[in-house]
Amino acid sequence: MKNYTSIHDIDNIHSWIEEAKALKANPLKHIDLGKHKTLGLLFFNSSLRTRLSTQKAALNLGMDPIVMNVSGDAWGIEFGDGTVMNGNTAEHIKEAAAVVSQYCDIIAVRAFPTLTDKVKDESEHVLKSFVKYASVPIVNMESATGHPLQGLTDALTISEQTKKSKPKVVLSWAPHIKSLPHAVANSFVQSMQKMDVDFVITHPEGYELNPEITGNTAINYNQEEAFKNADFVYVKNWSSYNDYGKVLNTDPNWMITNKKLGDAKFMHCLPVRRNVIVEDAVLDGENSLVIEQANNRTYAAQLVLKKILENIK
Ligand code: CP
Repeated sequence: MKNYTSIHDIDNIHSWIEEAKALKANPLKHIDLGKHKTLGLLFFNSSLRTRLSTQKAALNLGMDPIVMNVSGDAWGIEFGDGTVMNGNTAEHIKEAAAVVSQYCDIIAVRAFPTLTDKVKDESEHVLKSFVKYASVPIVNMESATGHPLQGLTDALTISEQTKKSKPKVVLSWAPHIKSLPHAVANSFVQSMQKMDVDFVITHPEGYELNPEITGNTAINYNQEEAFKNADFVYVKNWSSYNDYGKVLNTDPNWMITNKKLGDAKFMHCLPVRRNVIVEDAVLDGENSLVIEQANNRTYAAQLVLKKILENIK
């Protein structure tokens, strides 16, 4: 595998999950694979889990991670072609990506969407510019439209936690005060479409995700109905896709409670706003998988780095 930019880069999710489980059981087995190799992590946006788990994954493979908060600490990067750079940007992506490629064997990038310019966001101009102008492999640490490290993690977590051959998995929208991206929900949908699961999405009308991503996946606007017989309830807020980036609804009745959840396992990528998205009792209860999900971020990232390292060795 050259780059990992989307869930579509997973050729066989079942074998990937088995490989990730093997890495989790023996994290240092491939400690020599990344010896004298450097992973550069470039953050245009905040992170706790991705920043730490991806570094941990690199260390488990013997790599040396180096991290930069691009937005705060680097020169402002210009992505436009042919731009007269007499504004706030001081360095073009053509030079920036080429220069970072001299220092790193793999570059991982986090760059969120604007949520105001749908065309620009859907073009994935930041991620794709790194793919275009870097001379080393690129890993997506959450881009405008996808978070494939999270999607792989979530598939791994469900596989570990189920005893059923085809569990019922529900992706539920929940309220939030801010306009949030679609990336986590998109990658979760794409990963579930590759799994043997009975998968349903529930959200208020107006919160439909990109239909090119949801495809034939069932959508139920009634959360209570959607939750019936659920084994896993994956919760995430996202802003409107059609009325791009708008918060149309903050109805607290969509918040997740223990009563709604029943016996289902609760999943969320974190960070999560307590008592807005989900009540305390769920997060503090025994059906919450959020800490184990965060743990699995390391092994999903480690698997991705391992596959890329095996390709460049
Ligand atoms: N889930 C996730 O990507 O967490 P961070 O934003 O903290 O990296």
